[in-house]
Amino acid sequence: MRIAVLGTGGIGGYFGGRLAAAGHDVTFLARGAHLEAIREHGLVVTSVAGDFTVESARVTDDVASIGEVDTVLLAVKTWQLGALLESLPALVGPDTAVVTTQNGVEAPDQVATVVGREAVLPGIAKIFAFIEAPGHITHAGGPASLVFDEWSTLPGAPSARVTRLREAVTASGAVSPVPDDIWAELWSKMLFVVPFGGLGAALDATIGELRSKPSSRALLEDAMREVEAVARARGISLPPAVVAGTMAFVDDQPAGATTSLQRDLLEGRPSELDAWTGAVVRLAGESGVDVPLHRLLLEVLTSRHPGALLG
Ligand SMILES: NC(=O)c1ccc[n+]([C@@H]2O[C@H](COP(=O)([O-])OP(=O)(O)OC[C@H]3O[C@@H](n4cnc5c(N)ncnc54)[C@H](OP(=O)(O)O)[C@@H]3O)[C@@H](O)[C@H]2O)c1
Repeated sequence: MRIAVLGTGGIGGYFGGRLAAAGHDVTFLARGAHLEAIREHGLVVTSVAGDFTVESARVTDDVASIGEVDTVLLAVKTWQLGALLESLPALVGPDTAVVTTQNGVEAPDQVATVVGREAVLPGIAKIFAFIEAPGHITHAGGPASLVFDEWSTLPGAPSARVTRLREAVTASGAVSPVPDDIWAELWSKMLFVVPFGGLGAALDATIGELRSKPSSRALLEDAMREVEAVARARGISLPPAVVAGTMAFVDDQPAGATTSLQRDLLEGRPSELDAWTGAVVRLAGESGVDVPLHRLLLEVLTSRHPGALLG
C-alpha cells in the first residue's frame, strides 16, 4: 500500500513506522533536525510493544513531491493542520483515504473542505507516544490502537479500503478495532481528554490529583456532562452511561498522567487549546447549549497563556 504520513511525531512515527516496517511503501513528512536524523539513521522507534528501526525510511519536507497515494495518515497537531490543507488534494485520487488522528472533533470537517467527505476517514489514535529526540520516537504505553471508519457507514458493512487498511494496521503489530459509530467514539474521547486537559492545566494537577479531591472530581464530572450535552444536541449517539464509564476509565489511569495540552501550556509551547476547550465552547454556542465551566476554563487558560490559541 502507498501511504503518506503527514507529520512524523508520536502518532505518525509510531503507526507509520509500523506500516513501513511491515513493508508498505511509506513516505514520511518531517522537517528540520528530525528530517535530517531520519535521512541519516532511519526512523528509530522504541516501543513497549517491541523496538524497531525503519532503515532507509523515505522522508521529505515537500508534500508536493509525494504524489497520489492509497492512504494519507494525517498526524500533525490540530494547529498545524491548516498549513497542510492546500497541499492535500495532490495526494488524493478517486479511492484515496485520508485518515485524521487529531484529538477533538473538528479535523474531519476541516479536511473535508479540501478533499470532500468521501475521501475522509475520521479516526482516533489511542496511544502514548512522542518524539524522544530527532529521528527517534518513543511509544510509552496505551493500547496502540488506530480506529477509523468511513464518514457514514452501515454497521457491519466496511468499505474495501477500510478493510484493507485495518488489515494492514493489524498485520503491522498495532490494533485497529471496528467502531460501532466513529462519531460517538470521537466524542467519547473528547469527553475524556478535554475536561481532563482543561482542568489539569487550570489546576496544575495530575489525573490522580483531579480524581481524588472531591471538589475537583465533581468539576471533572460536570465538565464531562457539558461535553455530553453538546454531543447529544448535535445528534451524537453517546452511550447512556458515558460519563460514569469515563470516570471509571479516569480511575484506571496511572496517577501521574497529564495531557499534552497541560504540558504544552505549562512549557509555553503552541497548544491544542482551541481544538479542545475552544471547540467545546464553539460547538456548544452553535448548538444552543451553555457550557459555563468550559467558558471559564477557556477564559482562565487564554489569559494565563496569551499565546495558547495562536498555534
Ligand atoms: N502522541 C500521542 O500519544 C497522541 C495520542 C492520541 C492522540 N494524539 C493526537 O494526534 C495528533 C498528533 O499528535 P502527535 O503527538 O503525534 O504530535 P507531534 O509529536 O508534535 O508530531 C507532529 C509532527 O508533525 C510535524 N509537522 C507538522 N507540520 C509539518 C509540516 N508542515 N511539515 C513537516 N512536518 C510537520 C511536527 O514537526 P515540528 O515539531 O517541526 O512542528 C511534528 O514532528 C494531535 O492532535 C494529538 O492530540 C496524540
